[in-house]
Amino acid sequence: MTARRNLFVPRRGAAFCYIPAHVISRARKSSVDNDFGAEHTTAKLRALGDYLPAYTTALKAQPFRLTYIDAFAGTGECRIKIRGGEKITIPGSATLGHRCDPPFDRLVFIEKHSGFVDDLNRLRASTPEREIDVICGDANVELPRVLARLNPASDRTVIFLDPFGMELDWATLKAVAKSGFADVWYLFPLSGLYRQAAHNSTDVDAGKAARLTRMLGTDRWRVDFYKEPPQMGLFSKPDEVRDFDVQQMTDWVTEHLRSIFPKVMPPKILHQTMPSGVQGAPLYALYFAMANPSYRAHALATRLVTPSLR
Ligand SMILES: C[S@@+](CC[C@H](N)C(=O)[O-])C[C@H]1O[C@@H](n2cnc3c(N)ncnc32)[C@H](O)[C@@H]1O
Repeated sequence: MTARRNLFVPRRGAAFCYIPAHVISRARKSSVDNDFGAEHTTAKLRALGDYLPAYTTALKAQPFRLTYIDAFAGTGECRIKIRGGEKITIPGSATLGHRCDPPFDRLVFIEKHSGFVDDLNRLRASTPEREIDVICGDANVELPRVLARLNPASDRTVIFLDPFGMELDWATLKAVAKSGFADVWYLFPLSGLYRQAAHNSTDVDAGKAARLTRMLGTDRWRVDFYKEPPQMGLFSKPDEVRDFDVQQMTDWVTEHLRSIFPKVMPPKILHQTMPSGVQGAPLYALYFAMANPSYRAHALATRLVTPSLR
């Protein structure tokens, strides 16, 4: 038998971060390849893994049915590359929801890739006594449907929104915000935003513009992010250059989320990690938002979530 050992993987602001041995199974392959980067994967899963049991503990004495909804659920496992190129497998978000103790009353996994859905069905079959729905489909269609069937008086839910890129539509976020009872972790694709909203407006073709507008729910980004260059040649076409840097775009997104959610915490920025361990470009902004308008709920969640967003 191979002895398990604790591993350290690169992390922002420090050379390494710690993954305890019990969460690792070395290079165990899911039925379908599902590889992600190390730093942002461990950071988002650490935040989720800390929050879920804190949430079910805080609400366990209350008369609510607690549901965990994983709208971009993956396979239940994540294979990440650590320093030296070795790959390890750690529990993914669906497994964190499944293992959460105290447990959720119900789990809902939404996943578009049918091969990944097979893995999620295996996770479901491992505990047939539990209420687990595995839905193969588009989160933008399925998540609003799931929410519409929950009862604001008796249901409370944590939703994890973890797309690869710009797959989540603003209309879906609006449905979540409208629910009034969901807490949300959203891994917002910052690099998708600043790559699609290219430096020069002439590089933003119709497809990129449509994708940005779908993700942001408005085309106001055209006006807010860009300005005409100060010196225009005589008769030249008025190309615009992006005036906003990544920090300003992030601040814009934070305020935009605040226009629909009563509470949005300042995000944690997750960076690419270079092979040397040095911090690279910003990739994602990890947001925590609440649809619940209650100040008491905000105060409790702020206490629970703040350490994860530092
Ligand atoms: C970053 S991975 C999720 C990883 C997972 N949360 C975990 O921790 O293991 C994104 C997942 O979303 C799925 N996906 C992409 N677009 C989707 C969509 N529109 N609706 C549902 N799932 C989608 C992909 O197949 C992929 O498995």
